[in-house]
Amino acid sequence: MENPVKGTHDIIGTEAVFYTEIEERLKTVATIFGYDEIRTPILEYTPLFLRSVGESSDIVHKEMYTFDDKGGRSVTMRPEMTAGVMRSIVSNKLYAEADLPLKYFYLGPCFRYERPQAGRYRQFHQFGVECVGAPSAYLDADVINLGFHCFSSIRVPVKVKINSLGDEESRNNYRIALKEYFAKYIDKMCDDCKRRYEINPLRILDCKVPEDAEIVKGAPKLRDYLSDHAKAYLKEVMAILESYNIEAEIDDNLVRGLDYYTGIVFEYHAEEIEGLAEVGALGGGGHYAHLLKDVGGPDYEGVGMSLGIERLYHVFNHFNKELPDTFGLDFYIMPMDAKYIGDCAVLLNQIRFSGMIADMSFEVKSFKSQFKTALRKKAKFAIIVGEDEFKNGEFTVKNLSTQVQTKVRGEDISNSLRTMLQEYYEAAEMKFFEEHGNE
Ligand code: HAM
Repeated sequence: MENPVKGTHDIIGTEAVFYTEIEERLKTVATIFGYDEIRTPILEYTPLFLRSVGESSDIVHKEMYTFDDKGGRSVTMRPEMTAGVMRSIVSNKLYAEADLPLKYFYLGPCFRYERPQAGRYRQFHQFGVECVGAPSAYLDADVINLGFHCFSSIRVPVKVKINSLGDEESRNNYRIALKEYFAKYIDKMCDDCKRRYEINPLRILDCKVPEDAEIVKGAPKLRDYLSDHAKAYLKEVMAILESYNIEAEIDDNLVRGLDYYTGIVFEYHAEEIEGLAEVGALGGGGHYAHLLKDVGGPDYEGVGMSLGIERLYHVFNHFNKELPDTFGLDFYIMPMDAKYIGDCAVLLNQIRFSGMIADMSFEVKSFKSQFKTALRKKAKFAIIVGEDEFKNGEFTVKNLSTQVQTKVRGEDISNSLRTMLQEYYEAAEMKFFEEHGNE
């Protein structure tokens, strides 16, 4: 009972601080690119995912948390966010109100019953965007570019892999070629591949079983079946990316694990770095020509991508071990005797209402013990309130990094504390530039 559900995890302490930091930066990038936030429910009716993510996907086949609610309706905890966004566009007729393309970003938990391992959870968090209703190679490139900026904003170097699944005709011809090729191997391949062979042989290219991956290496290449139009489109997207200084690498086996993709697909992978465990793709996405129509909306094309916050954190943490400067308390108030607690509580309230972060202990503890708490809470200053201070109507404020003590008059304390805090940040910034230059 005391353990979290397998594959789920608590996000606490510094990890929670970093998650917030990452999420804020991603949201800022989406906002800069002109996206509005959308929040859809975690629960959706199950058929939504069957019609979108698709029955040939591993997600629908074996990874969904699906159950009947008390009214006997089958509901599913979202395994991804795109389907819900499409459903919301249809339910709320968003396509009728806003100018096209519709541009939404989202952030929230998703659920997949996968085997837990490094970078793979049963409850994880996705940030992503969907751009619907104005098909253009520029928008495909813009979404890839947005994802790339997200990684730059958290200073995580990534490689972009790209491929084209082509148009309907290209994919049909390719499916036939794959069936012919795999026919001679399928008996000895894994059960998943046997199923994929029947429903959607493209999915076999995604198989992670090492013996099957060897067979996949010899399979016909999608690029040999692409129509001229699909080839030219891929080239155009690559050229636009190049003009943004993004070097995307074509990966013939990149087919993605969801059924709704048509045309361009892409993924972000961490650069190989010594000491950094491999966690799979950090994010991915692609173009979907029929998804909105398939969930009951107008025939608008779209493009989107999602990033996995747990995986981003894993890489981010490799580079950023130090907490942001802003972490922790600004002030920790230390009453030296029980009789000062009431006045300290009033001061605490005053500081908090002036927008600064403060705390205190409501029990009287020794100076040493309160001092230790102040350090553990990463307070920038301790405010010491004892006999002398009380008599003279002033407080002793100690800068906990320089140990310098200053007396501050009680009447104008909020302004004095704010000035001290500003000076603290200016000094920290100077120190940072002295140590790191303008990197
Ligand atoms: P996806 O590739 O299934 O695409 O998931 C996107 C990202 O979510 C992955 O690259 C990974 O970082 C993260 N992720 C997936 N499963 C797990 C897991 N079990 N544990 C931790 N992280 C995970 C989609 O979901 C599409 N909706 C992306 C998209 C948006 N396509 C178009 N629009």
